[in-house]
Amino acid sequence: MGTRGVRVSAIDFIVKLFKWDDLLMEIVSKNTHANVVKAAHALIEGRLVAFPTETVYGLGADASNLNAVKRIYEVKGRPSDHPLIIHISSVDRLDMWAMNIPNHALQLASKYWPGPMTLILERSKLAGDFVTGGQHKVGIRVPSHPVANSLLTEFEKIGGKGVAAPSANRFGAVSPTTAEAVVDEIGSALGINDIVIDGGLSEIGIESTIIDCTATIPCILRPGHVTAEMIEETLNSIKLQTPSQYNLKVSGNFDLHYSPRAQVILNELANPGEGFIAMSNIETPPGAIRLTSPKTLQEFAQNIYSALRSADHHKLQKISIIVPEGNGLAVALRDRLTKASNSKNIFYD
Ligand code: TXA
Ligand code: MG
Repeated sequence: MGTRGVRVSAIDFIVKLFKWDDLLMEIVSKNTHANVVKAAHALIEGRLVAFPTETVYGLGADASNLNAVKRIYEVKGRPSDHPLIIHISSVDRLDMWAMNIPNHALQLASKYWPGPMTLILERSKLAGDFVTGGQHKVGIRVPSHPVANSLLTEFEKIGGKGVAAPSANRFGAVSPTTAEAVVDEIGSALGINDIVIDGGLSEIGIESTIIDCTATIPCILRPGHVTAEMIEETLNSIKLQTPSQYNLKVSGNFDLHYSPRAQVILNELANPGEGFIAMSNIETPPGAIRLTSPKTLQEFAQNIYSALRSADHHKLQKISIIVPEGNGLAVALRDRLTKASNSKNIFYD
């Protein structure tokens, strides 16, 4: 990671950007319709397309193409039994991929889609083992980022049914929130006809809320921008189940390696020469290297992964993070930061 550095700035159109040895891929700037149509065709042809979403960048492949999906696992170095989220352009296409969709799922979909929420539902025949990791449930999301949405719309216009897309990082690393971070993570593993679409910084910055809707009472498997309070309110004050009642493969259920490479310590002040992350009202300890000073929880989420990446680029050994307290988005931040700091080295996938 990072040894094959690349410049992503100052691109106006399609630029052949990455050329080392036999490697070549394209980075496509965000906003031309022609580029998005080209990327949709690349997906139909079985290529990989990394694209921006409002949460983090995804590494997309045609979800009904076994070989294309296999390449996602190869590029990420991710075990093949970890299920992928399928992205569609609209809730209208949900019943292609899922069956027996309960009412509470439809209520959540109509309130929070397009947006940073993934629903786990009973899968239809279309959702093959190769995309669900052999599970009988499937994860579906309708992203709101305009580039993601038009990519999905164009893909569907030419016969595509859905785009499987995990976060575009190597297994074990934090998710990328810029095109530069995608190239840094997986650029060297992408091939000649693969594409990275540059859509600027992801607005939310942490991955979608995952809600298992297959039981009578839904359960949050991964907290995110759509919070427990928001879900409970939408579902008429229903009390959500806790994840401990589940034994599913979701982020953080495995003990492996993790990124950043620096050791992450929570709620201790940094020593001189160490990295430091806290809300802006908390002063930087003398000699510590401030990696970000968010003013709000939203800013904290938006910046946290790039701050962790910058610690690695600066070859810091240790980062201290003062973790935000409270409910709402703070719950998701604590979830991700606890994973980054866990002494058992729990991974990101
Ligand atoms: O915000 C996001 O969700 C981003 C963007 C690109 O959409 N995607 C993302 O995908 O974070 P990924 O693969 O990095 O994380 C998805 C998580 C994984 O931990 C996976 O195990 C879980 O969702 N997941 C997917 N399908 C599932 C299923 N059928 N049952 C349980 N968990 C599932
Ligand atoms: Mg991931």
